[in-house]
Amino acid sequence: MRIDTATFLASYANVNTCPESELPEYAFIGRSNVGKSSLINMLTNHSKLAKTSSKPGKTQLLNQFLINDSWLLMDMPGYGWAKVSKTEKAKWEIMNQQYLLERKNLCNLFVLIDSRIPPQKIDLEFLNWAGENEIPLSIVFTKADKQSKNHTQSSVAAFMRELKKYWIFLPPSFVTSAEDKRGKEELLGYIEEANGL
Ligand code: GTP
Ligand code: MG
Repeated sequence: MRIDTATFLASYANVNTCPESELPEYAFIGRSNVGKSSLINMLTNHSKLAKTSSKPGKTQLLNQFLINDSWLLMDMPGYGWAKVSKTEKAKWEIMNQQYLLERKNLCNLFVLIDSRIPPQKIDLEFLNWAGENEIPLSIVFTKADKQSKNHTQSSVAAFMRELKKYWIFLPPSFVTSAEDKRGKEELLGYIEEANGL
């Protein structure tokens, strides 16, 4: 799929204030700093559409974008180790969970996992929560440019092996890099196919 237009629509602190839409929506979640906003910029050919930062905790609201006038994209606050207060973190968690459970036009949640590191408990816990709640999802391994192909492959295999302890059917997965644009065609193709866009 070619991206011709990508526009920021609005930020929401609560899914209830986000207008309902008939358009298919795709959301991006993962630990703080895993590369959600960078991946969104890479997919949409923009350097600054979604705000990125080397400091975890940059995205603090649900940020919605309109792509090609035909689908919606939601950049979500990260879970995990952002240096914010416990109250603030709990607020994000409620905001994220409520969005994921209640958004009617959510077609797929991309759960981003850092491809450099061993399986993290927080990612597995989040995936299991989403699976139990029947949220349609796929896994996106990020920052693959940061190490060798072998290292990425064994990280991906280790993560999927761990997930298999809990899941009967593994979700689709992608390997990406916002830096060298790896995985771009695959991800956009997946979205296009899912919706006949
Ligand atoms: P929060 O909004 O804080 O939850 O973070 P995020 O998941 O949106 O991460 P963000 O896109 O802001 O990126 C975090 C840091 O990782 C930034 O310094 C990015 O430049 C860097 N980064 C993200 N993706 C990649 C990648 O594919 N390769 C490399 N080398 N760096 C990346
Ligand atoms: Mg972000």
